[in-house]
Amino acid sequence: MCGIVGAIAQRNVVPILLEGLQRLEYRGYDSAGLAVVKEGQLQCVRSTGRVADLRERSAATEGPLGIAHTRWATHGVPSERNAHPHLSNDRIAVVHNGIIENYEELRASLTVAGYVFTSDTDTEVIAHLIHSHYAQGLSLLAATQVSLSELVGAYAIGVVACDEPDRLICARRGSPLLLGVGIGEYFIASDVSALLPVTRQVVYLEEGDVVELKRDGYRIFDAGGAQIERPVQTSELSNESVELGAYRHYMQKEIHEQPQALANTLESVCNSQSLVPGIFGAEAAATFADIDSILILACGTSNHAGQVARYWLEELAGIPCRVEVASEYRYRVSVPNPKALVVVISQSGETADTQAALNHAKAQGHVHTLAICNVPESALVRLSKLRLLTRAGPEIGVASTKAFTTQLAALFLLTLVLAKQRGRLTEQQESQYLHELRHLPSAVQKVLDLEPQIAKLAERFADKHNALFLGRGMHFPIALEGALKLKEISYIHAEAYPAGELKHGPLALVDKDMPVISVAPNDALLEKLKSNLQEVRARGGELYVFADADTHIREADGIHVMQMPEHAGYLSPILHTIPLQLLAYYVALQKGTDVDKPRNLAKSVTVE
Ligand code: AGP
Repeated sequence: MCGIVGAIAQRNVVPILLEGLQRLEYRGYDSAGLAVVKEGQLQCVRSTGRVADLRERSAATEGPLGIAHTRWATHGVPSERNAHPHLSNDRIAVVHNGIIENYEELRASLTVAGYVFTSDTDTEVIAHLIHSHYAQGLSLLAATQVSLSELVGAYAIGVVACDEPDRLICARRGSPLLLGVGIGEYFIASDVSALLPVTRQVVYLEEGDVVELKRDGYRIFDAGGAQIERPVQTSELSNESVELGAYRHYMQKEIHEQPQALANTLESVCNSQSLVPGIFGAEAAATFADIDSILILACGTSNHAGQVARYWLEELAGIPCRVEVASEYRYRVSVPNPKALVVVISQSGETADTQAALNHAKAQGHVHTLAICNVPESALVRLSKLRLLTRAGPEIGVASTKAFTTQLAALFLLTLVLAKQRGRLTEQQESQYLHELRHLPSAVQKVLDLEPQIAKLAERFADKHNALFLGRGMHFPIALEGALKLKEISYIHAEAYPAGELKHGPLALVDKDMPVISVAPNDALLEKLKSNLQEVRARGGELYVFADADTHIREADGIHVMQMPEHAGYLSPILHTIPLQLLAYYVALQKGTDVDKPRNLAKSVTVE
C-alpha cells in the first residue's frame, strides 16, 4: 500500500528510483510518480499506468536527488493530478504514505493563506505546509519538523526542494520507512526489497524520527527533536528471494516455497528434543505462567490462522481463546482481562488495524503481548513483549500463501508450549508432535504434487460467478481461507460456511451452477460432513471434495474428488490449505486476472 523510494547521490538517481518502485509494485498501487532536483529545477513526472509507463515517461528526466512513489488511492480517485509527488509552488515536492486526519482544516487555513490546491489528496497539504514554513526562512529540515508537529495522523514522507540540491528530508510516524546507507549516497524506502540493487546496509527508523540525508552523511532526530544514533543493520534479504525466477507469478513461487518456509520456521524447534517457552523470548516462561486465556487479534488471512489456532489452543492446551478481527476490536467496548495473552498475527507487521488493536489492548490494561510475524523489524514486533518470527521469506504476491502456513506452524508451537507448561503434554506426545512437525515440509511437498490435477479442475470454474466452501471444526477456517483466496484473485464471489450451517440458510443457493468445494479430512467429524455433502448433491450441487486418502469419498456423477496424500492429525489444516491456494491460483489464470496484484488490493494495508 503506497511505496516510497528516495535517493541522494552523485549520479543520476532516476534508474534507482524506478527500479525501487518496480520492486514495491507488489504492495499495490494505482498510480506512480517521481520528482528530481537538477540545477535548481524540480522535474516531476506522474502516471496512472504501471511503473513501466512511468519509466517511459521519465526517459528524459535525470538528476542526482529525487523521490518517487506508488500510490494506492485513499483521498481522491486514482488520477494523474492525485498521484504523488505533490508540489508546492514548484519548489517543494513531497511523497507520502499514510493518512492525514486533520487535512481538511489544514487545507482550509492554507487556502486562506493563498495556497492553490490542484489535487484532492491529503498529501498536498503537507507540501504547502512545509512551503509555508520554509518561506518564513526556516531550513527545509526545520520547516518539515514544524509542519509534522501540526499533522494528526499517520505518515512516512520524503521531501525535496529545488533550492536544496544537497538535502533529502524524510520522516515516519505510523507508516514504515527505512534508510539505505551507501558510499557517498543515501536512500530511503518503504521496505528493504526496493534498495537491494544499491545497498543492504539499512537503518530502521523509529516512530517520530525525522532525518536529514546529505551526500556525506545523515542526521536522525527522534520524536522529541534530539539527535540520535540508530544502528546500521545488514539486511539478510537476498536479491534472489525477491526475484521471480522460473515461476510465472510470485503467488505460484510462494506456494511452492512452503516446504522450505515451514522448515525454516520450525528449524530451531525441530533440531531440539523438547519444546521450551524461550523460543518466544526471554520473558516467555514467566508470562505464560501468568496467563489464563488468549486473545488473538489479526486481519484477513492472518485472522484465519488465529481461528485455526483457537481449536488447537482450547483442545490441546486447555486455555480459553478468543479471536477478533482487529479492525472491529479496536473500536469495540470489550471487557479487558490483564491475565490474557494478546497475540497479534501479521505477515507484514505493519497492518494499521492490527497495530491499532494492539495499542488499544495495551491501553485497556493488557500487559502480555506476543507478535507472530514475518518481518523482524516491523512495528508489531517492536510493540510486543514476546515474538515468534515466521521465516517465510519475503511474500510479494498480494494473496498471502506461505505466510499463512508458517503462521499456522508458529501457532501450533505456541499451543504445544502452553500445553506442556500446563501439564497437558506427556513426553511421548511431545516427541510425537515434534516428529510430525519434522515431517511437515515433506507432507506439504506431496500435496504440491497435486498441482497438475488441480490446474485441470480449475478449468471447470472458468465460467462460474459464485462458489461455496465448506469445512468443519478446525478446517472451517481453512474453508474461509480458500474462499478468501478465490475471491481475492479470481474475483469469483465465494463464501465459506461450517458444513453444519448449510441447512440453516446457504442451502437455498445450491443448484447446478453453484460449485461447492469441501475440505474433507479424516477426522471425528467426517461422517457428519459426508451427510452435509449428500444434502448438497441432493439439490443438484456440483461437489469438489479435497479428501484424505482413507475417507472413502468416491468420485461419482457431480462429485469430483481430489485425493489428499495423507491425514496429518492436528496439522491437517496446513496440508488442506495447499490445494485451495492452487485452486484459486489456477482459476485466476483461467480468468486472466492480475494474480499478484489483484484490483483494488494492497499487500500491506498500512492505512485504516
Ligand atoms: C491475504 O491474502 C490478504 N492479502 C489479506 O487478507 C492479509 O492477510 C491482511 O491484510 C493482513 O495482512 P498482514 O498479515 O500483513 O497483517
